[in-house]
Amino acid sequence: MDEKKIVFSALKPTGDLTIGNYIGALKNMIDMTNDYDCLYAVADLHSLTVDCVPAELRKRSYDFMAFFLAIGLDPKKCTLFLQSHVPAHAELAWILNCFTQFGEAKRMTQFKDKSAKAPQNVNVGLFAYPTLMAADILLYKADYVPVGKDQLQHLELARTIAERFNNKYSPTFVVPEGITGKKGSKIYSLADPTAKMGKTDDNANGTIFLLDDPDTMMRKFRRAVTDSETVVRYDVKNKPGISNLLTIYSVFAGCSIEEAEARFASSDYATLKNGVGECVVEFFKPIRAEYNRLIADKAYLEEIMKQGADKASYLANKTLSKVYRKVGLVR
Ligand code: TYM
Repeated sequence: MDEKKIVFSALKPTGDLTIGNYIGALKNMIDMTNDYDCLYAVADLHSLTVDCVPAELRKRSYDFMAFFLAIGLDPKKCTLFLQSHVPAHAELAWILNCFTQFGEAKRMTQFKDKSAKAPQNVNVGLFAYPTLMAADILLYKADYVPVGKDQLQHLELARTIAERFNNKYSPTFVVPEGITGKKGSKIYSLADPTAKMGKTDDNANGTIFLLDDPDTMMRKFRRAVTDSETVVRYDVKNKPGISNLLTIYSVFAGCSIEEAEARFASSDYATLKNGVGECVVEFFKPIRAEYNRLIADKAYLEEIMKQGADKASYLANKTLSKVYRKVGLVR
């Protein structure tokens, strides 16, 4: 019998989840649970690479788990856990640090961007961020990693490290492949449609958070930056704001970009913005209700976290043991 391929992905709780996270990663993560063995983590250790308030980190770890469940990640069909509950992640990361060149880590654009944004806290963890991410993936011998475009460079590095290790010793790691969606692998800020929509953007008006109430979502969509024309047309280069809105609409309305374009062909920009906003609000209404129910039930969330960590630990420790033996550590 064919063994199912393995999928791993993670999201880091440095800010609240956004529709960028949903479109770029979570949607694919849900779809893939039908055909693959999927493991999904809340990357809480990665959060420590930026300044974060302990109480907020703790709250968001629960929030992320509740959202994972509320958007349809079924714990019977996939393994959901917190990264820090499986110590093998940090342990393998150390080994992989020793197989990653300083120059390789230094070239990572996210490291450069984050260092420039917070020059007072360019810590060693931020530098080693991609090796922890490689450890996350390689521990589970993941074949596929669903992510947004911004993570592909980190994934390339994970592949390089895996190949280097396999060549030096013997085949140990599966070389993973990044999977980005056909559309929406990069969703842009509503306030600046040339910049990525991020969890920690300075301008919160540009980011739609899954936790935003309907009025807040609508207000942000109504204020979305567009252009000085009046035609609704998908044209990323010349009309990034309109194109971003059409992409968002097409994902949540479940139609193609062409269909979205046709639906709004004779609309003015205000009608488009309202239409996209209403569609997103409707989509998240039941999800927010389910999130509210789950977040009130900490014991259940902790049970899911524990079951997930037990399953993940078993798999992770098998790989870690193999790695320790290969590099010459006494077992
Ligand atoms: P993070 O938490 O920044 O983002 C989580 C996922 O959401 C995607 N994403 C986007 N996609 C499209 N448009 C956007 N505006 C947008 N913003 C975010 C990201 O590409 C990502 O897939 N380093 C990772 C977390 C991580 C990880 C891993 C991912 C830790 N270990 C192992 C995969 C495998 C991160 O910071 O993602």
